[in-house]
Amino acid sequence: MNQSRQFVLSGLRPTGRVHLGNYFGAVRNWVRLQESYRCYYFVADWHALTSDYADPARVRQATFDAVADWIAAGLDPERSTIFVQSEVKEHAELHLLLSMVTPLPWLERVPTFKDQQEQLKEKDLNTYGFLGYPLLQTADIIVYRANFVPVGEDQASHLELSREIVRRFNNFYGDVFPEPQPLFTETPKVPGLDARKMSKSYNNTIGLTASADEIRSLVSTMFTDPERLRRKDPGRPDVCNLFQFHKLFSDEETVARVDHECRTAQIGCVDDKKLLTEIMIEKLRPIREKREQLDADPSFVWDVLREGNRQARERAAETLELVRKAMKIDYPEFR
Ligand code: TRP
Repeated sequence: MNQSRQFVLSGLRPTGRVHLGNYFGAVRNWVRLQESYRCYYFVADWHALTSDYADPARVRQATFDAVADWIAAGLDPERSTIFVQSEVKEHAELHLLLSMVTPLPWLERVPTFKDQQEQLKEKDLNTYGFLGYPLLQTADIIVYRANFVPVGEDQASHLELSREIVRRFNNFYGDVFPEPQPLFTETPKVPGLDARKMSKSYNNTIGLTASADEIRSLVSTMFTDPERLRRKDPGRPDVCNLFQFHKLFSDEETVARVDHECRTAQIGCVDDKKLLTEIMIEKLRPIREKREQLDADPSFVWDVLREGNRQARERAAETLELVRKAMKIDYPEFR
């Protein structure tokens, strides 16, 4: 009965434990999509190598940490296929075949190519692999003949390229691939502790599975309204970082009350932090507890991935048969 479901695929590079920015920006959405789609979610470890080729030591642990947090957050291995990119070689074969039909300028004009080279000056990203990043991403998507790809706006140009490549491929070889559509769901802005965007590179994150003590000490360092210097000064919730977190974690009534009591100086920043801390600890408790269970039995996570790799290979292998046939390199004599 689930046969008719449409396919969703998404991946993240293995950056280790999930922080609240990743959670509200991507993972929570992945969890919801499981209700309506046949979902494939994977760790893009080859993509990590496109920029971190000189320093791959962390990839294995980062893969475990990411996947354990995804499962803790609600990805359900009974319903979704969770796997590791480099274990499904079909991505690489399809990447190679797609490279034959991909005009170089299409890759060179993808904005992230130049942007990232400029931002990560300390790494030499003038490589063949890095130029091919969005082409490998295209292979990741279409090797499952995915219909929808939940991604952030920053990935829009990659999805655009994927659709162009699909059109070009189908034009040469016949209709093999559906055009994948991005799914830009509304995601809340998640500020970091210092009110800049929450990001590992800014060192301003709160882990999704942080302990109660970590949450306490991190929230205590959070920026509030910079002009509210004294306890009796009225505050401005709209410029207060803490208040953004209330909107993510607290119920409507609490949000309204804090809003009022801050503006009228009835609640001070210190007490407000205590209130938020306790709410966050409670809200995140089930996720944190699930993660603790997984840490006590890490082989469960590796088993999920082993089974996910197998399921992913099955679907990807079917696609490659269609592709080889379409490109006339299927050699019935060798079958
Ligand atoms: N480029 C994506 C990111 O950095 C990761 C990724 C790789 C991906 N392959 C993908 C996302 C395929 C969606 C589909 O977040």
